[in-house]
Amino acid sequence: MKIFIDTANIEMIKEINSWGILDGVTTNPSLIAKERTDLKTCVTEISKIVDGPISAEAISLDAEGMIKEGRELSGIHQNINVKLPMCIESLKATKVLSAEGIDVNMTLIFSPHQALLAAKAGARFVSPFVGRLDDIGQIGSDLLSQIVTVFRNYDTETEVIAASIRHPVHVLEAATIGADIATIPYDILKKMVSHPKTDEGIRLFLADHEKSKKK
Ligand code: G3P
Repeated sequence: MKIFIDTANIEMIKEINSWGILDGVTTNPSLIAKERTDLKTCVTEISKIVDGPISAEAISLDAEGMIKEGRELSGIHQNINVKLPMCIESLKATKVLSAEGIDVNMTLIFSPHQALLAAKAGARFVSPFVGRLDDIGQIGSDLLSQIVTVFRNYDTETEVIAASIRHPVHVLEAATIGADIATIPYDILKKMVSHPKTDEGIRLFLADHEKSKKK
């Protein structure tokens, strides 16, 4: 499974990239606003750090505006794909942009039907929001599983990004279900590294090493 980071924070991206495990980055208007930056400046900076897909979300609600924004954003760097919110206008825009070789990440996916339509229109990625379904008492991982099954049934090239990841168990579910990608917030990536028994083991090995030096 490929690992993306879900943030617009440049320092966090630099740090996780330095681990050697980062395959890409997703941003959205809320994450951009949180960093008090603007989209173009932010994705330009990210493209200098990470060698992999970078999602930049369009804010137009009509196909014409989305296509214009998509062309502009993808023109910044070859790794930038345009994120569009699932709706009829986004399907129309995806058809045009994908025919031009511009990758689309269809976001705010909450049903397998939406994912199927996005793939048919030519989206390179679909982003089902696992955590936000859990928030309303539905099972986010069931959605992920249904989409992965549907895409496997038809050898669909569109990649599934498990998004709205809230804790390490969501990452485990994405990997066991077979999602192509999980886009993960910084604090959850940090949690994935740690285990108390690992920390304890390191302490014990170092203590034994110190003892053996004294012999
Ligand atoms: O990738 C989408 C993600 O940023 C949404 O996460 O936690 O706002 O539902 P969340």
